[in-house]
Amino acid sequence: MSAAPLLLGHRGTPRRHRENTLIGFQAALDAGLDGVELDVRRLLDGTLVVHHDLELLDGRPLNTLTRSQLEPHPVPLLADVLAWASQTGAYLNVELKFEGAQVDDRVARTCQAIRQHGLQRRVILSSFQPLQLRAARQLMPELERGLLYHRRYPLDLVPRVGRWLDVAALHPHHSLIDGPLMDVARRHGWRVNAWTVNDVPEVSRLSRLGVAGLIGDVPDVLLSARTR
Ligand code: G3P
Ligand code: MG
Repeated sequence: MSAAPLLLGHRGTPRRHRENTLIGFQAALDAGLDGVELDVRRLLDGTLVVHHDLELLDGRPLNTLTRSQLEPHPVPLLADVLAWASQTGAYLNVELKFEGAQVDDRVARTCQAIRQHGLQRRVILSSFQPLQLRAARQLMPELERGLLYHRRYPLDLVPRVGRWLDVAALHPHHSLIDGPLMDVARRHGWRVNAWTVNDVPEVSRLSRLGVAGLIGDVPDVLLSARTR
């Protein structure tokens, strides 16, 4: 029998609070989740912020703004979220939303910030961009990496990329998770973390398959994994 899955609020508690905000992250913990998934982007001046979209709500692209121009907007700094996680014990899935194949100082800054807050053992990095994870592997190999994907790739491609990145986990869209995928992951010693899981029957199906983590928008739906 596998251990109970780790439960993470997707961008916090987005049905109750604005996504990717400290109030939403704290609400996820207060509801009984283990932590949160969050998205990291970089401003023009290099500041790392927690935000899903390329633009602010007013349409201005984040990568054209400096930290001082951000002030009236409710966009947390990555450093503030890491400080919160360090105080509360929250587990974090830090998704690198760095566009394109270009690898520059973005990954290094993220890794440094995680190390500065002493969170190496309570963070897993993930990204849809394998090159960003590859850079993380080189910069800070001890920090766990999760391969994020949402297409049904041939089953031999996933392990090839996973080995290249030396991942600790696969992060497929929940609809891609089935017995054969779980077998591939087990053979490699990888965990499987599912996103975005928002209904109780799916929580139950994935728990039976033995996923290690569930990422979703609704705490009560995720918590049903503990009452099966
Ligand atoms: O990390 C899982 C999920 O957050 C990936 O998609 O667009 O919600 O960041 P998205
Ligand atoms: Mg995300």
